[in-house]
Amino acid sequence: MALPFPVGVDEVDRVLGGGLTPGSVTLLAGEPGVGKSTLTLQLAAAVASAGAGVLLVAGEEAPSQIAARAARLGTVPSSLLVIDDVCAEAVVAEAEAHRPQLLVIDSVQTLRDPAVESHPGSVSQVKAVTGRMVEASKRLGISTLLVGHVTKDGAIAGPRVLEHLVDTVLQFDGEPHGELRFLRSLKHRFGPTNEVGIFDMTGDGLAAVPDPSDRYLRDRRSGLAGSVVVPTLSGRRPVLIEMQALAVDTSGRPGHTTVQGIDGRRAAMVSAVLASRAGYRTQGCDLFVSAAGGAEVTEPAGDAAIAVAIASAIDGQPVAPDVVAVGEIGLGGELRSVTQLEHRLQEAFRMGFRTAVVPASAPDGPTGLRLLRAATIGEALAAVPQEVPAQSGRR
Ligand code: TYD
Ligand code: MG
Repeated sequence: MALPFPVGVDEVDRVLGGGLTPGSVTLLAGEPGVGKSTLTLQLAAAVASAGAGVLLVAGEEAPSQIAARAARLGTVPSSLLVIDDVCAEAVVAEAEAHRPQLLVIDSVQTLRDPAVESHPGSVSQVKAVTGRMVEASKRLGISTLLVGHVTKDGAIAGPRVLEHLVDTVLQFDGEPHGELRFLRSLKHRFGPTNEVGIFDMTGDGLAAVPDPSDRYLRDRRSGLAGSVVVPTLSGRRPVLIEMQALAVDTSGRPGHTTVQGIDGRRAAMVSAVLASRAGYRTQGCDLFVSAAGGAEVTEPAGDAAIAVAIASAIDGQPVAPDVVAVGEIGLGGELRSVTQLEHRLQEAFRMGFRTAVVPASAPDGPTGLRLLRAATIGEALAAVPQEVPAQSGRR
């Protein structure tokens, strides 16, 4: 297999581990409206600007609309060819004639294989046209990018049934009401699957978010109980995320835990450990735990921050604003080490944090970052510095 070539959109190249591989097929899946067409157009323009041929099959919008959008997003290189023929045979013929380096199909649900009777977008159609594109890509050494719409439950005919047919599956999703967009690889035959590309949807298309920690912490308010920051890993990149918790007394009724951006089972486990190993009455509260700003923290390293946030919420005591907490919590209440701790702590220090609650086994952090080593979650909670109430001014 030939070496990957960079597409020229850095966040995409990072997620792909270098770029697109000639002869491979990549599925870009996402909900309608998330920005798939915008991203593919920016990619297509970037590849074409580097002088390579790009063939874009426009099944969703008229080529004139696409040209207008491309012009709005930047210059339109002449090596970007847009066609609106959605017949799979015609697309293959165009690819044979032009031999582009990149073939973009927006979307796979609009392509039609005349040999298949059902309507475009049906399971048999999307499978058949994908099969044709896979064959043509391999034969011609072209990189093909297929756009596929999915709904929230992934039930729509399309991307899910294609995952095993293609080499790479990228998922594009975003905050429901915000501008942040995330590109993740779910399957990648030629590289890593744990890198995340982060973009802002702006008026001028998608822009890379160069400093995700800053982006996530920008709206943080100080002095609130139930908040602490966790240094997470997004692929190889450390990113700081605010963990928030709210505890509402149920006056006797059994409590319920609601989560956003974290794994509900981990939250339930941390809540149970807090109750049985640290004496917190978590069962008597409705608990809400959220990774702020639409972030996702699914790694166990987020456990300590979940515990600190819940404990702070129940106590009504804000944690000092310059504290981060990191560590996996075991059922015995022990705080366990996490991968790449030094890397995470450096990021915390860079962003102005000066105290870190870490597992007892933690290596030294950067100079200037005070480490509070704790063997158990009980020790960690006892060590967490609380916010010093502001001196009340003289009246
Ligand atoms: P689009 O790429 O068409 O989404 P998809 O192909 O996944 O359905 O873009 C969706 C939204 O993005 C659309 O509501 C308009 C918005 N948008 C911007 O905010 N800025 C832009 O520069 C562009 C091109 C689109
Ligand atoms: Mg689209």
